[in-house]
Amino acid sequence: LKKSDVVHFILGERLHYPASSSPVRAFAATNIALCKYWGKRDSELNLPMTSSLSISLGDKGAITELSIHNKEDKVIVNGKEIPHDSTFYKRLIAFLDLFRSSRTIYFNIVIQVNIPIAAGLASSACGFASLVLALNQLFHWELSTKDLSILARLGSGSACRSIKSGFVEWHKGIETDGMDSYAAALPEIWPELYVGLLIFNKQEKNISSREAMQRTVNTSALYPAWLEKANQDLIAMKKAIQEKDFLQLGQIAESNALTMHALMLSAWPPISYFLPETLIAMQKIWELRKQGIPVYFTQDAGPHLKLLALQKNKTEVQSHFPSVEWVRVF
Ligand code: DP6
Repeated sequence: LKKSDVVHFILGERLHYPASSSPVRAFAATNIALCKYWGKRDSELNLPMTSSLSISLGDKGAITELSIHNKEDKVIVNGKEIPHDSTFYKRLIAFLDLFRSSRTIYFNIVIQVNIPIAAGLASSACGFASLVLALNQLFHWELSTKDLSILARLGSGSACRSIKSGFVEWHKGIETDGMDSYAAALPEIWPELYVGLLIFNKQEKNISSREAMQRTVNTSALYPAWLEKANQDLIAMKKAIQEKDFLQLGQIAESNALTMHALMLSAWPPISYFLPETLIAMQKIWELRKQGIPVYFTQDAGPHLKLLALQKNKTEVQSHFPSVEWVRVF
C-alpha cells in the first residue's frame, strides 16, 4: 500500500473540499519518547515494529501557518525560506502532494519552531503534526484525533504522537493498511514531572533516525531482544505512570534509551550519536543518583540528553547542570 491509498481511504470526498480563503494556524508540541520507536515493519507507511510511549513538551513545538498560494509552494521556517533542493523541502512537499486536489494548488507554509531543529529534538514530529492540524482546518475536514494521528504518521512516525498532549501511547497496530496504528493520550496527568533539555554544541546530525533505524533492523543481531524489551518496558512504564512511581519511570526510560543506543552500536556500519559531552553528562547523572538525587535521562537520535526529574529536585539538579532548560509538561 502507498501513502496516497491511506489518504484516499481517510479523506474520500473531502480531498476535494475547497480551501479556506484566509490563513489558518495550528500548534503541535514536540514529544520525547520514554519508550522508543526504533524500527519499522513498513517503511512506506511508517508502521512500527513496537508500540511506544511519549510525553509532549507543553509549549515547546511548532506553529504552522498555512494558506493557499497561487504560483508555487513556499516554505519558511523560523523566518528563513527553505531552499527547494534541500531534503527537508522535498520531504515536506512530497507530503503535501498527498493532499492536493489539483496540480494547480500551491501552499504557503510558515513554520515557527521554538526548539533546536534537527538536533534529535523531534522537530520533524511537531512540524508534521502541526501541518496536519493546519490542513484539517484549511480544508474543514473535521477529522477525528485518530485519523489526524494516522495522517501525521505518514509524514514521520513519531509525529503521530504529537497530535495529543501529556502522556501519549502509539499503538503499533497489526493491519497492513495501518488503520490501527495511531496514538492516543493516556488519562494520567503528573504536574510534578519535568523534562530538562541538556543541549550540547549544535552540530548537524551524522545520520537521520530514519536511516539509522532501518540499518539497525537490518543488521543488528540484538534486534529480536529489543522487540521483547520494548514490550515489557511499555507495560511497566504504564504501571509506573498510573502509580506515579518516578523511580520506576526514570529507570525504565533511561534503560530503554540506552538499549536503543546499544542496538545502534551493534549495527553495521555502527551508528553512534554520542559526543564526549554526552558520556560525561551520563556519568554525572549516575553519580548524582548515587548521592541520592533522583534524576534520569533519555536520549534520541542526537547527542543531547533530556533529563527527567520531579519539580522538588529541579534546583538541585540545575546546580550540577547550569545550562539545563526545564520544560513543564503538564
Ligand atoms: C529516536 O519519527 O523521526 O526519536 O518515522 O522515519 O520519520 P521516521 O522516524 P522518526 O524517529 C524517531 C526516533 C526516536 C524515538 C521516538 O521518538 O520514539
